[in-house]
Amino acid sequence: MAQPQRKILVTSALPYANGSIHLGHMLEHIQTDIWVRFQKLRGNLCTAVCADDAHGTAIMIKAEQNGITPEQLIDGVREEHMADFKDFGIGYDNYYSTHSPENREFAELIYKACRDNGKIAVRSITQAYDPEKEMFLADRFIKGTCPKCKAEDQYGDNCEVCSATYTPMEMINPRSVYSGATPVEKSSDHYFFKLPEFQEFLQQWTRSGTLQDQVANKLAEWLDSGLQEWDISRDAPYFGFEIPDAPGKYFYVWLDAPIGYMASFKNLCDRTEGLEFDEYWNKDSKAELYHFIGKDIINFHALFWPAMLDCAGFRTPTAVNAHGYVTVDGEKMSKSRGTFIKARTYLNHLDPQYLRYYFAAKLNSRVDDIDLNLGDFVQRVNSDVVGKVVNIASRTASFINKKFDGQLQPTPAQETMIQEFVDAGDLIAELYETREYGKAMREIMRLADIANTYIADEEPWVKAKNEETLPQVQEICTVALNMFAILATYLKPVLPGMVADAEAFLNKELTWDNRSELLFGKTVNKFQALMARIEAPQIEAMIEEGKTEAAAEAQAKEQAAPTEETELSKEPIADEISFDDFAKVDLRIAKIAKAEHVEKANKLLKLTLDLGGETRTVFSGIKSAYKPEDLEGKLTIMVANLAPRKMKFGLSEGMVLAAGPGGEEIYLLEPHEGAKPGQRVM
Ligand code: 2FM
Ligand code: ZN
Repeated sequence: MAQPQRKILVTSALPYANGSIHLGHMLEHIQTDIWVRFQKLRGNLCTAVCADDAHGTAIMIKAEQNGITPEQLIDGVREEHMADFKDFGIGYDNYYSTHSPENREFAELIYKACRDNGKIAVRSITQAYDPEKEMFLADRFIKGTCPKCKAEDQYGDNCEVCSATYTPMEMINPRSVYSGATPVEKSSDHYFFKLPEFQEFLQQWTRSGTLQDQVANKLAEWLDSGLQEWDISRDAPYFGFEIPDAPGKYFYVWLDAPIGYMASFKNLCDRTEGLEFDEYWNKDSKAELYHFIGKDIINFHALFWPAMLDCAGFRTPTAVNAHGYVTVDGEKMSKSRGTFIKARTYLNHLDPQYLRYYFAAKLNSRVDDIDLNLGDFVQRVNSDVVGKVVNIASRTASFINKKFDGQLQPTPAQETMIQEFVDAGDLIAELYETREYGKAMREIMRLADIANTYIADEEPWVKAKNEETLPQVQEICTVALNMFAILATYLKPVLPGMVADAEAFLNKELTWDNRSELLFGKTVNKFQALMARIEAPQIEAMIEEGKTEAAAEAQAKEQAAPTEETELSKEPIADEISFDDFAKVDLRIAKIAKAEHVEKANKLLKLTLDLGGETRTVFSGIKSAYKPEDLEGKLTIMVANLAPRKMKFGLSEGMVLAAGPGGEEIYLLEPHEGAKPGQRVM
């Protein structure tokens, strides 16, 4: 039975316009695309829009470093993103940009409505400011020495070594990563959205079935502990939209990012007959609105966004669907391991449908992380898609082509079995609708097993050899291809390319509703192989390319802008000290008896130092420059009377001396030959 047609608008989070799409992004875009294709296949009027998130400091700075305008940067990146999505079979109805006239218009409209409703506050705040670059600095654009454990090269808000939190101005020798200048404190007026005034509205909204339980529970904690006003302005220079009546003040990128959903849709409406913006965004809209997002940006979509929409008189989302992160082989994607895989790198080696199927097989409606286990990926795709589904057609189609000239048997057969396939569509539809794709894939594979068992039992390849049993072959293969056609229908949201080829072969455009129109008496076309197996070398080649790319990127980065690390070598000579002060420092020759990696530490090696009888353990931030095995047996110089420091990974009993700008260029000091462990350095 055909359902009444629903009007649905779907979005994925807008990727930043300063980097490539990687497999972490792809999980979300694939999850969205499957849902959208499913809705379209069911006959609903479903529209999917996305865009690049084009504003903010990072984009402004990157353009400057590349010697181009931000507009040139975001245009180029958008082209790249659109090609990646297209080649992965992701079919947005519009892929726009937040740097667009429509977005400016909506951002201003929503801001003015909030302001006129008394929901904007202006007050002065004090922030770190780069006097050379003449811009305010967010904490992550400041680096310096941790005031607590003295670890160097830490970000402006917390220390990766001892986990201390602090303000940039509390750091020792804080520096702007842009200019190397020492930041100063400076005040300026900022604009705030009065989120606390939406407490009650949000308490109700977040509990009205709009969010997954896991998410609603998390938000309840935040809501109970009280909301903060949200700083929505940034001072010039900033790449974004200037705030109306506030010269030199710009909307913070996260203010106009979700508004980009509206702008992209508006841009589509303006060139699409029958698609009315107001019908989808008016307060009393009957259309459905869904946002697919990652779990890291829930607060923007489930607090700020509905509050702003409500305040400005627009409808709020029907639901916000959050997913978890992608891990590869159980670990965070890593550039050095080659598992931080860009969409394009994947496409250079593998069919996008493999990943679409694998993610589908693993996805559910929860916020759980999804592991791309590469061994399991090969095994699962080969066994399910190629070995089960495609196999049904490849074992039977050639008989119909060769022995029966493409003619399927006219009289229906095995109707009960085929009816089970048709009926399963209701459950599978329910599973797609509720984003339980993994369960849907399992149900489809259960049916595929039934089809394969039927074919194996009937042995058409044996019956084809005998004139007497040849007519049975037409029946067996016709039944099998009917089952295949139904399974192909169910897989169409996940494997659009494979199913398009199947449709060409079957002479039928498959839709959810016409799956019960069986193919008895119809003619099929020449069968072409639908999908090949994944071979292990393809995976290896992809990982190798990932590693090579990451290495090239790291090198380019080092050679490009003089980084904050290079600035260190220009460090001014420190204030004068007396000889007595210097004499307090007990420097000793130390032999590196042992050097080891420290689990989970990005920068540290653990050194066991021999001071000629006494041993010391020292954690040293030299991992980027040395392999532990190259250090063992070497002599160096250590500060032997430094007070022991408790670090996250253990107690550090001293410090070894090294020079250099950082990264690969860190050079441990080494005495001339003849010096012995334990000797004092003077
Ligand atoms: O986290 C991100 O990658 C953001 N660019 C997502 C923005 S989603 C929306 F609000 F625009
Ligand atoms: Zn620290």
